[in-house]
Amino acid sequence: MKAASIVGNGEICHAVERRIAADLGAKHVFLTTSGTHALELAMAGLGLGRGDEVIVPSFTFVSTATCVLRQGATPVFADVRARDLNIDPADVARRITRRTKAVIVVHYAGVPCDMDAIRAATAGRGIRVVEDAAHAVGGTYGRTPMGLLGEAGCFSFHATKNVTCGEGGALVTGSDEVARRAELYREKGTNRAAFLRGETDRYTWVSDGSSFVLSDLLAAVLAEQWKKRDEIHRKRALMHRRYMDALAGLESSGACALPSAPRRSTPAYHIFHVLLPDLKTRDRCLKSLREAGVEASFHYIPLHNSPFGRKTLGWRERLSVTENVADRILRLPLHPGLSGRDVDFVCGALSRALGRR
Ligand SMILES: Cc1ncc(COP(=O)(O)O)c(C=O)c1O
Repeated sequence: MKAASIVGNGEICHAVERRIAADLGAKHVFLTTSGTHALELAMAGLGLGRGDEVIVPSFTFVSTATCVLRQGATPVFADVRARDLNIDPADVARRITRRTKAVIVVHYAGVPCDMDAIRAATAGRGIRVVEDAAHAVGGTYGRTPMGLLGEAGCFSFHATKNVTCGEGGALVTGSDEVARRAELYREKGTNRAAFLRGETDRYTWVSDGSSFVLSDLLAAVLAEQWKKRDEIHRKRALMHRRYMDALAGLESSGACALPSAPRRSTPAYHIFHVLLPDLKTRDRCLKSLREAGVEASFHYIPLHNSPFGRKTLGWRERLSVTENVADRILRLPLHPGLSGRDVDFVCGALSRALGRR
């Protein structure tokens, strides 16, 4: 392998970016060192600054909010809907002020947000919509891939994600302005990318920036994973269906609620979760599933209720749906190595924990 092919933003990265762009129909793709950095790059690409507000769900991973802080702007937390655990467009509309510059939606578990309602809430107000599509590789809303539904989309290729290279991410955008800023920011604030294209004979410092370029070593891993994404998606979809069928009886007896997705969409099947009646039942089921050897889990501690949210950001308001679902959610294993028998075993263990079998 040539020495040049292990650098960041090298030939292999460029080939993978072109592949992703062609497969998704995206205008600009920037591979990054993580999904977190893709989000930070998106915020830099929007040109946010001090005094600007960005509405984000509280029920999400921290990076959805820290990317806003990185630009000196303020995250404003919105509630989610119980039906899909995605940001509630009505609550977004209530939180819009003169300072609101963007909304970050998270397609939780790979289920698309209600983008039509989000667009209706933000239309004509100069508010840009950014997708945290960390869970959403391989899914669509209508016919459009998630990640291409707003001004910018941010994927994660972390080890836990559907398509992975260990640590990695990508910013996808159709906006030339976002792309122009992101290209400079990702390369430490230099015009190295233009230099690599032969557009200038040297490169120099031209903007604010950081180092978010993926190594070609990881891009080579990503290239192979990306080829397998349809197969990965098919396997995940099959196991998701099996969970839905196996747990339908529990849902109709009121013992749990199963996830749902909007019509005309294809989820990415990143996470399978159920909502149990209350915190006590959830914790009891979690314990007994773990005792049975099942890697069940829960998340998130809502960001508005976290130590940083409360002490540093000074958030006091309650977000009732977010707090309620965070207490009741139970995540069950979902990955392409899972067999139908594994799923049946998990569902049997859950039924027993709920006293149903
Ligand atoms: C919703 C969401 N956004 C962003 C991220 C950050 O991605 P990464 O771990 O690649 O930085 C994650 C990671 O778990 C996530 O779940």
